[in-house]
Amino acid sequence: GRVVVLAGGLSHERDVSIRSGRRVAEALRSTGLEVEERDVDSSLLPALLADKPGCVVPMLHGETGEDGTIREILELLGIPYVGATPAACRVAFDKPVAKTVAQRYGVHTPASVVLPAESFRELGAAAVMALIVERLGLPLMVKPAKSGSALGCAVVRTPEELPGAMVNAYAYGTVALLEQFIEGDEVAVPIIDTGDGPRALPVVGIKPDGGVYDYTARYTAGSTTFQTPAGLSDELTAECQRVAMTIHEKFGLRDFSRSDLIVDASGTVWFLEVNVAPGFTETSTVPLSVQAAGLELGSLMAGIIRSAAT
Ligand code: DAL
Ligand code: MG
Repeated sequence: GRVVVLAGGLSHERDVSIRSGRRVAEALRSTGLEVEERDVDSSLLPALLADKPGCVVPMLHGETGEDGTIREILELLGIPYVGATPAACRVAFDKPVAKTVAQRYGVHTPASVVLPAESFRELGAAAVMALIVERLGLPLMVKPAKSGSALGCAVVRTPEELPGAMVNAYAYGTVALLEQFIEGDEVAVPIIDTGDGPRALPVVGIKPDGGVYDYTARYTAGSTTFQTPAGLSDELTAECQRVAMTIHEKFGLRDFSRSDLIVDASGTVWFLEVNVAPGFTETSTVPLSVQAAGLELGSLMAGIIRSAAT
């Protein structure tokens, strides 16, 4: 039956999602599938009910998409979809929760403090600066607990920068995650499963020209240098892929995921986060890895759809 690619929605990553959705839809059409692209608005439910698609591809980044909400609705309607279940999405999309689960399975993740906006208000900026800097040292990373595409994220190098960075993170949600900053090589590792079990794709090395992999560095062509496979030793490559596989399997993810990691100078691999709807834009890492693996995006996604819809 018809494949519906969901993209857009009301998250802060709406524009990115539209770019990912377009790319995936075009790749799927090139395999001969009938593909419809749909935004997420009030017309979605009646449309799904009136004409049940054979499979839905939720290319939605951020809230509603990666937190499992839309998938909950698809479950209720009995419509097959690709990607993780709502329950698995909830764990993966909440960075502090994901870090806790990762740690339980022996995966390294930077030391962190979780601070709701309410606690920030009660403690006051001065106390927050003192407490956090004592606990985590500097530099540190400030992130919204639930967000994507580095929106609301900042590197903090002096105590004075901390309160402002936190206020910025709270613009994307009520909870901030403060993490020890790990110096090292940033890499992304996709896991894919077309029905014969999950496998790790080539590791992508990420070198933003400006040093920080922020929103602009992610989505402006030419502003980041990607290396696929990343220039890591065989041992470190295998370790990155092992960590991404552990996350994919222990989190109960399905079909595809992308773990974002840091490899430090001592060879320790640190888990930052996992994406259940990773970007598929022209500047995203998963398509690069797919290509480096000698695979074709359209047939790969078509294979995942076949396996999800049966
Ligand atoms: N959140 C963006 C889409 C990514 O991780 O690729
Ligand atoms: Mg992300």
